[in-house]
Amino acid sequence: MGRIAKYYREYGVRIVRGFMQYVWDDQGRRYVDCNTNHGVVFLGHANPKIAETVKRQLEEVWAVPLNFSTPARERFIEEFSKLLPAKFGVVFLQNTGTEAVEVAIKIAKKVTKRPTIVAFTNSFHGRTMGSLSITWNEKYRKAFEPLYPHVRFGKFNVAAEVDKVVGEDTCCVVVEPIQGEGGVNPATPEFLKALREETQRKGALLIIDEVQTGFGRTGAVWAFQKYGVEPDIFTAGKPVAGGLPIGLAVAKEEFGDVFEPGEHGSTFAGNAVVMAAAAAASRLLREEDVPAKAERAGAELAKALAETGSRLAVRVKGMGLMLGLELRVKADQFIQPLLDSGVMALTAGVNTLRFLPPYMISKEDVEVVHGAVSEVLKKAEAP
Ligand SMILES: Cc1ncc(COP(=O)(O)O)c(C=O)c1O
Repeated sequence: MGRIAKYYREYGVRIVRGFMQYVWDDQGRRYVDCNTNHGVVFLGHANPKIAETVKRQLEEVWAVPLNFSTPARERFIEEFSKLLPAKFGVVFLQNTGTEAVEVAIKIAKKVTKRPTIVAFTNSFHGRTMGSLSITWNEKYRKAFEPLYPHVRFGKFNVAAEVDKVVGEDTCCVVVEPIQGEGGVNPATPEFLKALREETQRKGALLIIDEVQTGFGRTGAVWAFQKYGVEPDIFTAGKPVAGGLPIGLAVAKEEFGDVFEPGEHGSTFAGNAVVMAAAAAASRLLREEDVPAKAERAGAELAKALAETGSRLAVRVKGMGLMLGLELRVKADQFIQPLLDSGVMALTAGVNTLRFLPPYMISKEDVEVVHGAVSEVLKKAEAP
């Protein structure tokens, strides 16, 4: 029998069921899911409103190439458009976050005819060769060098140096509004504003990578709306199809028709089942005012994480339900003990525990997370 290639740590837990903010293992144990498959299941596991639509679509048609129209894609674009700020109208469909970043870069290169991409310290944009080239941490990239050569890394959140790093050779600047993998580090408003001004001055495109932050998690549909800074293109992924694979880049109208037929494409992009899920997810986001709920639940969770009483805890970072608890010690040692206490969490950077729960996380769940985190930190403090 074959085996699945192993490049992930295994926790010895076998998940057999998920519903909304919970998953269950094969022993019947329930976990509050703050991992959500790296932030994918923000709208809840098997959310009935999405599941019903997907079930209906499975009886209709699964895969239709982009050369043909199909109702699932029409419903998606109708619902998704209601979540887009004015001026943003063109959606490039992909299957993953890293592909969303790739297509955004391709648009910028084609439009500007310039080589250089600017990214920042602690960035994470994906693992295909283009996105990897603008991912900062050596642990992801070292083994695969040489990567795309025309990349300049500036210092994240240093607004005063933005004019030095963005040049006449720059096709685009790519930035996360809150760095996810890099440590749950929110950009400062001054930094994002400086990027917007400098890219405009130098004729480069500003690409905001919302693969982790986007679709309501931070308390706004798109995190850049909280900053009042508008990019030329933004990317999204993770929760947009409720748990099915999707990635997309959304461009302002003027950058919409850059590719000739054949210059870009993807076999699975726009898959009808995924589109049905994304249409239902987009409608749910709006009808249930998910961003407002994420903001409220996020405030409760942030308060709880700030009150562990542990001297190992430094501070809580993030926005809405994208939260990090920065520690004085390495964070990965706590993932297994948290699992043992019924909480699934993630790390970010080296010292940060990361929590990306579904928007319906309740006060009781927050108490469970608070109890578990306080307990595992307390145990680690013991001499
Ligand atoms: C900001 C950001 N961009 C891109 C990606 C890559 O997404 P995917 O793993 O779906 O390719 C991620 C994944 O964590 C991300 O956080």
